[in-house]
Amino acid sequence: MSDPTAISDLRQFLALLEQRRELHRIAVEVDPALELAAITDRVCKGAGGRRALLFQRVLGHRTPVATNLFGSFRRAAWALGVERLETAVQRLEQGLKFVPGEDAGTRLQHLLQKPRFVPNLKVGCLCHEITMPCPDLSLLPALRSWPGDGGRYLNLPQVFTRHPEGGSANCGMYRLQILGPQRAAVHWREASDAAHHCRAWHARGLPMPVSIALGGHPTLLFAATFPLPPGCDEAAFAALLHGRPVAMTSSLTSDLQVPQGAEFVIEGLVYPGERVEEGPFGNHTGFYQPSVRVPLLRVSSISHRADPILATTIVGPPPMENCYLGKVAERLLLCLLRIDHPEILDINMPVEGIFHGVTLISVKANTCGKTLLHGLWEKGPLQLARLLVITTDGDTRDPATFFWRTLNRCDPRHDLLMRNGRVGIDATAAPQGLQVLQPDEHISEVLRQRWSEYGFD
Ligand SMILES: Cc1cc2nc3c(=O)[nH]c(=O)nc-3n(C[C@H](O)[C@H](O)[C@H](O)COP(=O)(O)O)c2cc1C
Repeated sequence: MSDPTAISDLRQFLALLEQRRELHRIAVEVDPALELAAITDRVCKGAGGRRALLFQRVLGHRTPVATNLFGSFRRAAWALGVERLETAVQRLEQGLKFVPGEDAGTRLQHLLQKPRFVPNLKVGCLCHEITMPCPDLSLLPALRSWPGDGGRYLNLPQVFTRHPEGGSANCGMYRLQILGPQRAAVHWREASDAAHHCRAWHARGLPMPVSIALGGHPTLLFAATFPLPPGCDEAAFAALLHGRPVAMTSSLTSDLQVPQGAEFVIEGLVYPGERVEEGPFGNHTGFYQPSVRVPLLRVSSISHRADPILATTIVGPPPMENCYLGKVAERLLLCLLRIDHPEILDINMPVEGIFHGVTLISVKANTCGKTLLHGLWEKGPLQLARLLVITTDGDTRDPATFFWRTLNRCDPRHDLLMRNGRVGIDATAAPQGLQVLQPDEHISEVLRQRWSEYGFD
């Protein structure tokens, strides 16, 4: 396995990481309560070379656990089946050029319907190799990451749902808290596609079938985290980025498709009106997200590969693995944003802002920042950003200079906008009547020539 283009499941990805010395195996026994997360956290923050980790012996469990799989730009690119992220970005950019549609969402929808991106349906699949006679979630080495966490979590699940009237299925990443052998709390946001599907099933008085894949195709795993426009299929999006279709198979208890190479497939139903307490959950904000009532998943089937491996992640203060997923998403989102707003030149979502929470935007000269802000708040992936900063005069790649320039350039009396609790800073207007400060050109040249005379290297 020397080539990321050939990867189609977690094991092949782990083999590639090992071959490229990006995987660190831990052979001693490690506790899934706090210890495993603490090791991962420290490695993510630099100690231990930031490699992916494979915990071979997990206390009380037979299943090994892999973490930090996507925790570098290189590994995140390989997970998309490419050596360099730019290849996947170009595939998206090029593909979008030649499809009809007035906005990015419609164009992407058309593009993803092309036959070459339709998943390959397989029968007799690896992910159903073994079916638990009596489904028991407690057999999975789910982690407790932080001391105040309300329980044990599966943090990297691909959750598949479908609207009761059909259409393409949705695959989203929403954390699961294990409550009992056949009970889990599923934390999807009210605005998520899964919540939308769930409301539609329950409005008809019906329970919603849910299938959850753990592991499987790394590109699909990334796609589950990406804020795709409505109606776009994550498996087709994964195929577009990766350059070849994703192999899927049927669930055992519903018509939902799951990745054929998944390590585990958990299936069940979410009944109308059944909600349970979930949390607290140690989050990437550095605070515990307080307990909330979320839908209860009643599990009816768990199948898995022989000798499965559990892939998971730790959510916590940055830098963490999910920062790299966020930065990959940023590059792809730029392609979509530039279709709807061609005046955008570049964006940067600093990891401290947590995904798109804070987005720095550089735009072409003469752009009306306020019109753009309202457009971004109206629809699209930046709708929920807490802070958007727009300027014609700043390199988004250099946040320190960007903030220095924009914050000193704007006049809060008319350049600070708020809508539904979101803040926008329009720093596109040049300050009136102020002269730009520039070093003296002659003295700069003198310094360049005489620098060593002053005793500096
Ligand atoms: C590691 C990780 C964990 C996440 N956990 C959740 C979660 O628990 N609930 C949620 O609503 N979104 C979560 N997200 C964000 C969603 O995956 C993301 O918004 C995705 O676009 C949702 O899919 P949807 O747009 O189809 O609803 C998580 C993202 C990552 C990278």
